[in-house]
Amino acid sequence: MNDATNDLERILFHEDEINSRLDELAECISSQYDKRKLTVVSIMNGSLMLTSDLLVRLKIAFDLRCLNVESYYGETKSIGEVYINVKRMPNLSGSHVLVIDDIFDTGRTLESVIEKINFECNPVSVSSLTLLKKKKARKVNLIPDFVGFEVDDLFLVGYGLDYKGRYRNLPMIGELKREIITNPSS
Ligand code: IMP
Ligand code: MG
Repeated sequence: MNDATNDLERILFHEDEINSRLDELAECISSQYDKRKLTVVSIMNGSLMLTSDLLVRLKIAFDLRCLNVESYYGETKSIGEVYINVKRMPNLSGSHVLVIDDIFDTGRTLESVIEKINFECNPVSVSSLTLLKKKKARKVNLIPDFVGFEVDDLFLVGYGLDYKGRYRNLPMIGELKREIITNPSS
């Protein structure tokens, strides 16, 4: 097993649970967008694993775009600023857009990305999917259309989610031990 699992307080979702939820989500997406022009917009880097594992399950045609977005700056709390690192947004007229992100926390990331797509890309519609959604009160007037799992307000890592760039490659999702966060030299 990956040594980094020692840094987990507990595991919330094992690989097989994630996979079976992805089967269900892919089924919903495939029927919702059947016979529609779909563009998937994946928010990097957190949704790298989610995007690839979800997209191989889709039974419909789609176009894929990736957006590099930063909102955490290496700490465990959002500082409320979202930086979308893109020179020019694509023209998505005629397309239904599905934005994919790893986790919905304050909601500011998803809100900023959706606003930008609506203003700059001229899509037919914009919906969103996150694998995880924190149950705490969100800061925006938006919830994802598709959610994998609702979770408590914990700092989670694994399956794309990182702490200071680490743990993305864990196949499971778990709560990071508090001493790892409060004691950065360890
Ligand atoms: P929001 O803008 O507050 O909704 O935060 C969303 C972004 O923050 C996600 O795309 C993640 O990159 C990051 N994030 C939020 N919660 C966690 C967490 O528990 N672990 C790791 N990253 C997180
Ligand atoms: Mg992210």
